[in-house]
Amino acid sequence: MDHTASASAKTILFGEHAVVYGEPAIAIPLTKLRTYADLVPNQKEFRIISENTRLNHPYEKLRPESGLQKLLSILMETFEFDKLPQGTLTIQSRIPIASGLGSGAALSVAIIRAFCKYYNKSLSNEQINDIAYRVEKIYHGQPSGIDNTTITYEQPIIFSKSDGFTRLKADLNPLNLLIIDSGIRSRTVDVVSSVRTNYEKNEPFIRQIGVLTGSAIKALECGDQQKIGELMNQNQQLLECIDVSCPELDKWITLARKEGALGAKLTGAGRGGNFLVLAQDSKQAGKLKRLFENHGLRVFQ
Ligand code: PMV
Repeated sequence: MDHTASASAKTILFGEHAVVYGEPAIAIPLTKLRTYADLVPNQKEFRIISENTRLNHPYEKLRPESGLQKLLSILMETFEFDKLPQGTLTIQSRIPIASGLGSGAALSVAIIRAFCKYYNKSLSNEQINDIAYRVEKIYHGQPSGIDNTTITYEQPIIFSKSDGFTRLKADLNPLNLLIIDSGIRSRTVDVVSSVRTNYEKNEPFIRQIGVLTGSAIKALECGDQQKIGELMNQNQQLLECIDVSCPELDKWITLARKEGALGAKLTGAGRGGNFLVLAQDSKQAGKLKRLFENHGLRVFQ
């Protein structure tokens, strides 16, 4: 019996950080970049193995108060069992950790779905999203909920804390978007809390990001690539104003623009992690991909 389940990464096109303060944001799933969870009976004890993080532990050895421990305890409560199954949960992920692509939420959603398969129980997307959000609070402190929502529903969405999500009605296929890993790891919880510490200074920029995201929804819906690129550049400038970029991201983003990209910006929490580059066409996307790979960066398309 196959109990493998998976969940995708996500990238925020517009509105990160501002979304924490009630503004809308736009995110899309990266369906080819996934985390897999596989739960197989072992007749012994519950054990969790993750090759990426070199974890090989029984439940008792998990760090107390960790996201994984929280998730497993919520699952026990949800499925009303008093102990975890005698099984090995193996995690395999291609999503880089702490780099703005929602690796934590993808891990949660993949594990929840693997448990559903193992116990032959179904949970609605709403229930899965709710559990993943509770775990996000451990990873992020006060998350907006955009990561878990994009990943649970695996749809391009417009998200706001007060209104939840609606599907983005845009054809994204013509966009030549590169997602590029700066290789710098940065914890979302730290960046979000520094924006909060300087909230008074940051507030005007946060509100401007909200207005800009409104324009981006329109530009995406009518496929105006020039405008989308311009808005990405403006969004990046506002993210710099709230101090969530970093010299390396600034350097790569400037290089992409110098090479003729329509727009470039960081994605996710920032101060490292991934950035987005919108190329003019597939030929330029190929050229930019090679350029960044030659600089030793990992490029997702
Ligand atoms: O860096 P990520 O993938 O965890 O994205 C965080 C997005 C923020 O807007 C910065 C925080 C949030 O909870 O929305």
